[in-house]
Amino acid sequence: KKAVTLRTLRAKYEKQQPICMATAYDYPSAVHVDQADIDIILVGDSVSMVVHGHDTTLPITLDDMLMHCKAVARGAARAFLVGDLPFGSYELSTTEAVRSAIRMLKEGGMDAVKLEGGSPARVEAARAIVEAGVAVMGHVGLTPQSVSVLGGFRPQAQVASEAVRVINQAKALQASGCFAIVLECIPAPIAAAVTKALRIPTIGIGAGPQCSGQVLVYHDLLGMMSHPHHAKVTPKFCKRYAEVGTIIQQALVQYRQEVADGLFPGQQYSPYSIQQQEVDLLV
Ligand code: KIV
Ligand code: NA
Repeated sequence: KKAVTLRTLRAKYEKQQPICMATAYDYPSAVHVDQADIDIILVGDSVSMVVHGHDTTLPITLDDMLMHCKAVARGAARAFLVGDLPFGSYELSTTEAVRSAIRMLKEGGMDAVKLEGGSPARVEAARAIVEAGVAVMGHVGLTPQSVSVLGGFRPQAQVASEAVRVINQAKALQASGCFAIVLECIPAPIAAAVTKALRIPTIGIGAGPQCSGQVLVYHDLLGMMSHPHHAKVTPKFCKRYAEVGTIIQQALVQYRQEVADGLFPGQQYSPYSIQQQEVDLLV
């Protein structure tokens, strides 16, 4: 049985203990995030950018996401698992939204799904998915799947007057039955106002310290590379807790050098040996 469920997340929220979420995309990253006691693993469609090397999250398909979800589910024993519904898998009809969400649970092994946006159509999709028996996490503010209409990855709600729009979207998602809402790239005071207006947790990314929880992208927080999530660099709001990319690069260069210099494998890493003379006698 899972250690982290909607009930334990709810209990944390009620005790005002910050909820921690991180992304993971495969077996090893899931094992690492799980063993760090992080509450929620998000199999984010950010995989499109940080793993597949695309400039946006748009190209990743539902089948691609399902493959990543399955790998993460094999590596995570205790965390609550949320799978991102990718662009194109929930916009066409509520029927298709429900079908995609069910696949994330039945095939992907997820505990819940996440979808982007707070428009009436997105809220309706969220409601239909919850009614079908799948828990939904909302996502407002910067919604990277809308890059085509937004005209780029830009911070959202940069004027106080937009606070009302964001709060209304979040409230509509809450009313549809969402159990939590991601707030991405909005000013801290607006995120604080949304958090105060809701009775479900907000999970912030680039949204200041007053959300009910925080989320970061695995590759960003580990300093895997200066890769494109929102831009061609680590986003301004992301703290790099390590420089793993530097360690990987150093190890690979050292390996290449040792092979070139004939230093690897050497005696120590040649465990399968018999007397050379015995071989010489036969061949
Ligand atoms: O795909 C992702 O990683 C996300 C988080 C940034 C919330 O949606
Ligand atoms: Na996402």
